Amino acid sequence: MNNDLDQILKKYKAGKREDLIPLLQEIQEVRGFLSEEAIVRAGNFLGLSTTKIYGLATFYDRFRFVPAGKIKISVCNGTSCFLNGSQPVINKVKEEIGVAPGQTTRDGNFSYDIVSCMGGCQNGPLINVNGEFYTHVKAEQLPDLIKKLKYIIEND
Ligand code: FES
Repeated sequence: MNNDLDQILKKYKAGKREDLIPLLQEIQEVRGFLSEEAIVRAGNFLGLSTTKIYGLATFYDRFRFVPAGKIKISVCNGTSCFLNGSQPVINKVKEEIGVAPGQTTRDGNFSYDIVSCMGGCQNGPLINVNGEFYTHVKAEQLPDLIKKLKYIIEND
């Protein structure tokens, strides 16, 4: 598992702090999330403290610190989706799966993220479930959708 990290770090220059965000992005692309161990390694490599890295990484809503669930739900909260009513959708997903954005359910079935724009602003609010987009989403649709997804997981 460490080998993939070594491969990634080789592409960067030790001590070059401005590479932090691209480096973290690449680690997340390969591993799906940023483990504590990966953050410590990145910090040692770039000469940044773990606290500083967590601080910067949590500022960007695209980083995950826990492994993703079997079903990944992302809700867009970009300006356009926000104006079209993403907030009730965000609250409903949280209520239905029982975890806040950035978290994964304890059973590992669902993970939940908020993203800033999915590139379909005319059709918001948008959500993405394991790569599939749902447009013009209303909070009332969520209980049925989540029920369907739970059924799929149970019968997989
Ligand atoms: S703001 Fe949601 S798709 Fe652009």
